[in-house]
Amino acid sequence: MAHFEDIDLLDLQALVAPYRGRPEMLLQALQDVQGVFTGLPMAALHVVSRELGLPLSRVFHVATFYSALSLVPRGRHLVKICMGTACHLRGASKVVGDVCGSLGIRQGDVTPDGEYGVETVNCLGACALAPVLMVDERYVGKVRIKDIEGLFGDRKIQPAAGSGGSASEPAIPGDTGATGGGKPLVDSANREGKDASNS
Ligand code: FES
Repeated sequence: MAHFEDIDLLDLQALVAPYRGRPEMLLQALQDVQGVFTGLPMAALHVVSRELGLPLSRVFHVATFYSALSLVPRGRHLVKICMGTACHLRGASKVVGDVCGSLGIRQGDVTPDGEYGVETVNCLGACALAPVLMVDERYVGKVRIKDIEGLFGDRKIQPAAGSGGSASEPAIPGDTGATGGGKPLVDSANREGKDASNS
């Protein structure tokens, strides 16, 4: 699992300072912190709690409630690979293997340089384009190996450990090797009727 490094408390305090004494800005403060650190270090939760005047338990609850927020670093660029039914049936497991092979990491991890993180999700809402992935806000549909090669510059695709798929062939419609899984993109946000997609 990826870890945060070199957390500067002064940077954190400066980041949260505009929200001092404004508990109603909790979600915005957490989004701002995540925007800088690509996740929410525990130190940040303490700073947010103190600056906004909220119990740490409340800050922690919100930080873990929204799937758009993360307590671990996600990478400066987040790759979300859909493992929903349509994508599963059209080779999503192979896409996961090829992306992870290209980046040299496992699903859920972040590249050592902090540039890319890889997550799986249940549906990206573009099933007609399956298999689908997103890099930050950009959709890539009907993913093929050349698309993946183009996404990560000169990083070469290598077979990913445990991916179960060759990286030398395009994603094959009908490949059913995936096991599914991954946390929903905005499930918990919807439960409160709020939109967390901008985080
Ligand atoms: S199942 Fe993949 S976008 Fe819907």
